[in-house]
Amino acid sequence: MTPFLTAIFLLGLSSGATAANFSPVFEWNELDFNWPSEASRTTALKDGTFKPENIDPRFMAVHGSRIFLSLDDTYGGIPVTLGSLPTSGASSAPPKLTPFPSWDMHGKEGDCDKLERTKGLEVDSVGRLWVLDSGGDDCYAKIWTIDLNNNDHTKIIHRFPVRRLMQDLVLDETPDGTFAYISQGIEQNVVVFSLERNQSWIVKTPEIEVFSIALSPKKDQEPRQLYLSKWYSKELYSISVAALRNGAGTENPRLIGKWTADPYRMLLNNQGTMFTALLRQNYISSWNTSQPFAEQRFHEVAGLNSGLPFTFALDQSGTLWMTVFDNKKKPRYRLLKAAVSEQSLMASPDAANAAEYGVKGRKLIDSSVFFVFLLAVAIL
Ligand SMILES: *[C@@H]1O[C@H](CO)[C@@H](O)[C@H](O)[C@H]1NC(C)=O
Ligand SMILES: *[C@@H]1O[C@H](CO)[C@@H](O)[C@H](O)[C@H]1NC(C)=O
Repeated sequence: MTPFLTAIFLLGLSSGATAANFSPVFEWNELDFNWPSEASRTTALKDGTFKPENIDPRFMAVHGSRIFLSLDDTYGGIPVTLGSLPTSGASSAPPKLTPFPSWDMHGKEGDCDKLERTKGLEVDSVGRLWVLDSGGDDCYAKIWTIDLNNNDHTKIIHRFPVRRLMQDLVLDETPDGTFAYISQGIEQNVVVFSLERNQSWIVKTPEIEVFSIALSPKKDQEPRQLYLSKWYSKELYSISVAALRNGAGTENPRLIGKWTADPYRMLLNNQGTMFTALLRQNYISSWNTSQPFAEQRFHEVAGLNSGLPFTFALDQSGTLWMTVFDNKKKPRYRLLKAAVSEQSLMASPDAANAAEYGVKGRKLIDSSVFFVFLLAVAIL
């Protein structure tokens, strides 16, 4: 390659999808909760019901000035599995997690009217947080809604009729009603819930244990696609939501492509860019779904040490919020944000904020263009 072509090639790389400029919001060496009293915290630390080192965020949603996180409870010591954080803070100390919607709504194992093991989260268009709750040994899985615009009014909108392990949830709001599509992690099916009918059913996906899921943006003509990743596989599939809404049955998802590792979290913005976090990888990848499948490196965090380091979610103004978890090194937790969508900047209350990051993003591209220019000059 001639130096000139090299410069052009580098220019092409630097202006790709990797130009998102994440800015740090908070960093923590240890996460904690806002406890009802110091005494209750001390007791919980003593009896092992609270082990701060085990806090590991897995699912995320953002609405207004609040971030919601589902916490993994595999290793115990997690007194509540759903907490909230503010999107900004006045003090220099990073905020603590507030049990959401309250301490009282988190029960002991076996209380089926309380939140037990929260998993996938999503906020709908009227500001209700949908919470998928896997239940426990004594309780079946259920779906909660928490009305964020109405004093966080909390209710169970569906109890599944049989025991089900649950994983992730996405919402499809249509003129014919609202549907939730749910993955169970290791089952060869998608679970569908219809809000209007208050019914759930199963669509079988032979040979494909549906792990992580993501929904394509609303478009006028084509039916939306539910993207599926397969448990312990790099493969990405899709299935038309029309097939899911029709009721119980069997569908064969279409193979789309293969990532560089196994996806555990996927998300699409309104422009159809898919963001994917991959097992044991220190980067997030992206794919422009308007084009044939091609994985791009979207954001990398150097030296990360954990199996599932990232959670992310989009807010209403198209800002991507992300937590980064490091199992060993400090800071063990980080919250970052970046503007990744252009269309919604106008309408949003956060427009000024988002525009600011847009400008930073452009500055980054400008400086990389300048760098390539210098490099080309040096080589020539
Ligand atoms: C919806 O169905 C579940 C069980 O399938 C039931 O417990 C619940 O009361 C129903 N909700 C309404 C609003 O009818
Ligand atoms: C995605 O690809 C389409 C079609 O090539 C293009 O028009 C669009 O600008 C791309 N989106 C982004 C965010 O690059």
